[in-house]
Amino acid sequence: MTILVTGVAGFIGSNFVYYYLRRHLERKIIGLDNLTYAGNLDNLSGLTEEEKKRFTFIKGDICDTELVDRIFSENEIDGVINFAAESHVDRSIHDPQIFLKTNILGTQVLLDAAKKHWNKNGEWEEDCKFLQISTDEVYGALGSTSLFTEKTPLDPHSPYSASKASADLIVKAYHDTYGMPMNITRCSNNYGPYQFPEKLIPLMINNALNHKPLPVYGDGKQIRDWLYVEDHCRAIDIVFDNGQSGEVYNIGGHNERENIYIVKRIIEILREKTGDGEINESLIKHVTDRLGHDRRYAIDPSKITRELGWEPSIMFDEGIELTIDWYLNNREWMQSVISGEYLEFYEKNYKI
Ligand code: NAD
Ligand code: TYD
Repeated sequence: MTILVTGVAGFIGSNFVYYYLRRHLERKIIGLDNLTYAGNLDNLSGLTEEEKKRFTFIKGDICDTELVDRIFSENEIDGVINFAAESHVDRSIHDPQIFLKTNILGTQVLLDAAKKHWNKNGEWEEDCKFLQISTDEVYGALGSTSLFTEKTPLDPHSPYSASKASADLIVKAYHDTYGMPMNITRCSNNYGPYQFPEKLIPLMINNALNHKPLPVYGDGKQIRDWLYVEDHCRAIDIVFDNGQSGEVYNIGGHNERENIYIVKRIIEILREKTGDGEINESLIKHVTDRLGHDRRYAIDPSKITRELGWEPSIMFDEGIELTIDWYLNNREWMQSVISGEYLEFYEKNYKI
C-alpha cells in the first residue's frame, strides 16, 4: 500500500511519517511538501535506511494541478492524508490570502486528482480514502463550560480557521456529490517534537532559554486543550484504516490548560532542568491581545473512543516534560529554523 501524505516536512506531518512507517512495515509513503518557512527536511533526518526505502520525498505545491496529477499517474496511490496547510493564526491575521490559496484551493486540487484516478466509470476503487486533517478551531470558541462535539455548528473566527472550515466543506461536498470515500479529523492543539517556534509552547521554550520576554496575549486566561503529537498520529492512523467513510472524528487529549499556566510550568521545568536562575517569572510580559482571540477550545473525543477505540495515552504533565527534553536535546534544530524569515515575522507580530 502506498499513500500520499502532504505537509510531511512540517510539525505533525513529520511526526506522522515516523509513526506510520514504524507501525506498518509493508507500507510506503510519498511525501509532498513545498518547504515553506514551516517545512524543514531535517525533521525527517531520523528515518532509518530501511524506512528511507519506503519514503519518497517530492518538493512541490499541493496547488500545482499538473504535479499532483503526475504523482497519481506515476504511482499506485491508495490514499491521501492532507496535512499541508498554512497553520498559524497570527500569520493569517497579517496576511489571509495564502491561507485561502493553500488551505482551500490546495485541498480541491488534491481532491480532483484523487477523484480522477480513483473513480472509473462512476465506481470508486476499493479501499481508497481521502483523509483531511482539520482543527477544532472550525467550531469557533466556547464559554467556560461545554465541549466541541462533531455536531457543533461550524463558526470559525480567524482567517486560518475560516479557511480550514471551507476545506472541510469542500471535502464533504466531494463525498456527498461524488461519493468520495473520506474522513475529516478535527484535533485540538498539538505539542511535541519538531513544532515550529511560532506556536505557544516552542516559542516560550526558546525565548526562556534565551532570557527573552515571554509574550502572553491579554490576560493569559485563554484555554486550549493539549494533545501530544504522538497520540494524534495514532488517532489519524486508526481513522485512516477504520473510520467509517463520510464521518468526522474529533481528537482531543482531555488536557485543558490556561495559557498562563503553561508558560509558568515551562519556566519551572526549564529552571529545574538547566539550573538557570535567570529563567523565572519576571520574563513574562503581557502584550496586546490577538485580534478576535478565541477564549476557550475543548474537545469531546467520545466518538472516536466509542467507535474506534482510541484514547489519549500521554497526559499534559508527562507530555510537557517529554517536549522540553526534546527541545533541550535538539538546540541545533531550533537554531536552524530561526531564520531571517522567522525574525521578520517575530518583529511584525510582536512589534519589537
Ligand atoms: P506546520 O505549519 O508545522 O506544517 C505545514 C507543512 O505544510 C509545512 O511543511 C509546509 O511546508 C507545508 N505546506 C504549506 N503549504 C504547502 C503547499 N502549498 N504545498 C505543499 N506543502 C505545503 O503545520 P502543523 O502544525 O504540522 O499542522 C498540520 C495540519 O494539522 C494542518 O493542516 C493544520 O491545520 C492541522 N492542525 C494543526 C494543529 C496544531 O496544533 N499544530 C491543530 C489542529 C490542526
Ligand atoms: P498558538 O500556539 O498560536 O495556537 P492556536 O492559536 O492555534 O490555539 O496559540 C495557543 C494559545 O497561546 C492561544 O490562545 C494564543 C496564545 N499565545 C500567546 O499568548 N502568546 C504567543 O506568543 C503565542 C504564539 C500564542
